[in-house]
Amino acid sequence: MIFEEDINQVIRELKPSGIRKFFDIAATRKNVVSLGVGEPDFITPWHIREAAIYAIEKGRTFYTGNKGLLDLRKGICAYYQRRFHVTYDAEKNVIVTVGGSEAIDLALRTILKEGEEVILPTPAYVAYASIIAMAQGVVKEVEMKEETQFKLTPEALLAAITPKTKAIILNFPGNPTGGIMTHEDYAKIVPILKEHGIYVVTDEIYAELTYEGKHSSIAEFEEIKDQTIVINGFSKAYSMTGYRIGYLLAHEKLINMMLKVHQYTIMCAPTVSQFAAIEAVNNGDEDIQRMFLSFKQRRNYLVKELNRIGLKTHMPEGAFYVFPSIQVCNMSSEEFCNRLLDEENLALVPGNAFGDAGEGYVRISYAYSLEQLKTAIGKLEHFLGNHITK
Ligand SMILES: Cc1ncc(COP(=O)(O)O)c(C=O)c1O
Repeated sequence: MIFEEDINQVIRELKPSGIRKFFDIAATRKNVVSLGVGEPDFITPWHIREAAIYAIEKGRTFYTGNKGLLDLRKGICAYYQRRFHVTYDAEKNVIVTVGGSEAIDLALRTILKEGEEVILPTPAYVAYASIIAMAQGVVKEVEMKEETQFKLTPEALLAAITPKTKAIILNFPGNPTGGIMTHEDYAKIVPILKEHGIYVVTDEIYAELTYEGKHSSIAEFEEIKDQTIVINGFSKAYSMTGYRIGYLLAHEKLINMMLKVHQYTIMCAPTVSQFAAIEAVNNGDEDIQRMFLSFKQRRNYLVKELNRIGLKTHMPEGAFYVFPSIQVCNMSSEEFCNRLLDEENLALVPGNAFGDAGEGYVRISYAYSLEQLKTAIGKLEHFLGNHITK
């Protein structure tokens, strides 16, 4: 017999992801068009797959060092320098992880003590709150509003700081809103983070999908670089979700602490995938550009069409999601998505899956072909025809 009370209370109380819950329902129906998943639809570029095959052929099938292959760490540091002008040392400042997912877990588990607060700007990626809880931290949500382009404002940040504040999670470009922070936006919050000694966990997994201007990393600000942990990975930029490769960039002391957690729980990221990642990071800039252009075209199409059919949609500056307001329908985001699924066989993600601040919105992923996006727009237009109340 398994008794619920035998199970760790934190785990018992974790809520299942609002995305999973919804897609479990969608999976039970036939002919559903889904724009729910945040995974690029491109097969990994051939030269990267070939590097993985070659590694297997050559018998490179053993553990690597805990931090990951040095050539990969060197490639990652050269990449951060080349693309975002931030300098890290391959020997001291990098751990290769099992996706950005493990990197988030390592960072939070390492820095948090029981009861310390983590400021979480929301709407936010669904995993953060649960990972904070598993690391014994306390989530302190801060709402990012559409009126301020889903950015984190200095006023909102200041209002969230308490004596228990330990860290903040930043995710720009962001899932689910597509919001970004420019260098100038960061310049307004950096003095606050510095003054209060707040650790900055910056998840830059969508950095390469920045449509207006260039991605800015908060690690560029030397005055807070020591208290900053950068998270990034290969899943989104190179369409390598299944390889499970991500990384952490941080001060040597933090790296050494996080490495303890990594070495006892994971040992090392998958070796064959690390070889594929070396090829991607050294020779994949053109692939990034090709996929970027395709995403940008889809974004432009989707935002134009959503506004045309009556769903007010902010033009997202990054990632591959749009976050339209559903206010015209006078339904909660969950009711909207349930009825859309029932009546039109179209699956979107209710905004409340990303925190209370997401209520009144839905998330649409455009990591799907233009054909699928067109079909979805047709379905949405039909649905709105029956349900627009305002
Ligand atoms: C904001 C954000 N961070 C991290 C991840 C995790 O990605 P992975 O573990 O594949 O690197 C995702 C995946 O959807 C994400 O949206």
